[in-house]
Amino acid sequence: MSRVSEPVGRARAAVLRAGSLLRKVRRRLRRSARRGQRRWLFFRKQPARSKLRILLGLKALEDLPMAARNALWPLPAPLAAQHVRRARLFENRVALLEMFPTGAVGAEMGCHKGNFSAHILDVTAPRKLHLIDYEAAFVAEVRERYAKEIDAGVVEVHHGDTVASVDALPAGSLDWAYIDGDHSCRGARRDLAAAHRAVKPDGWIGLNDYVFFNPEDMGKYGVVEAVHEFCLEHDWEILGFGLAGRGQHDVLLRRREAADGPAD
Ligand SMILES: C[S@@+](CC[C@H](N)C(=O)[O-])C[C@H]1O[C@@H](n2cnc3c(N)ncnc32)[C@H](O)[C@@H]1O
Repeated sequence: MSRVSEPVGRARAAVLRAGSLLRKVRRRLRRSARRGQRRWLFFRKQPARSKLRILLGLKALEDLPMAARNALWPLPAPLAAQHVRRARLFENRVALLEMFPTGAVGAEMGCHKGNFSAHILDVTAPRKLHLIDYEAAFVAEVRERYAKEIDAGVVEVHHGDTVASVDALPAGSLDWAYIDGDHSCRGARRDLAAAHRAVKPDGWIGLNDYVFFNPEDMGKYGVVEAVHEFCLEHDWEILGFGLAGRGQHDVLLRRREAADGPAD
């Protein structure tokens, strides 16, 4: 009896396995047909240059469907009302400088040729301004441009990485820091962390290029993500917002308890 039923049992199990495999294959085929159909519908709507790139396997960002674009970069962590409710809006970043303390000690992290430094000097009249950049040519240009201020002991130029240069200053020695160096998410995070170590507990941190994607160099910027994470983690708020024509806005941050008025 058992000799007859064993092969029958095995055959039944094999049939069941084959059936389940068949169902799985059918489901996959249906799914990929649906995907293929969606791709085809998307492809049909694209302009000729995009079709050509897709066919040649040279897809650019604009050739991706919206869902695929969104999947590339997760949304930044959302801020709560208390992180923005007291923010003042300014027409541009030079006007935003009005909110920086005057006669104070500050650092521009990523000074390039010193163009914005001129506005910083003019509007905030710092007691001391540290200008930092790792490009030797820019540093040389800035040293020449601000020779008078360097001689007067107002400007000090640092040739090196923003984080290493700021970390070399005594902790808590800055009234403010302005971050405009490496705008990747990792870069903005490390600059924010260094600025946090260097500014006084009631100090200020400004950042340029608060933009998710920069239309000028078509690059993914990470300043928005870094700012939101920083405000949520350390309980800082955005107190100033300076508009920029192409969306590379400025933000000015301060610890919530340090800001004027009752923090809630
Ligand atoms: C957008 S430019 C700064 C513009 C300047 N703040 C202004 O508004 O005129 C960015 C500068 O940061 C510098 N930079 C980028 N990453 C850096 C880093 N990790 N350390 C030092 N400088 C950096 C670049 O060399 C460049 O000059």
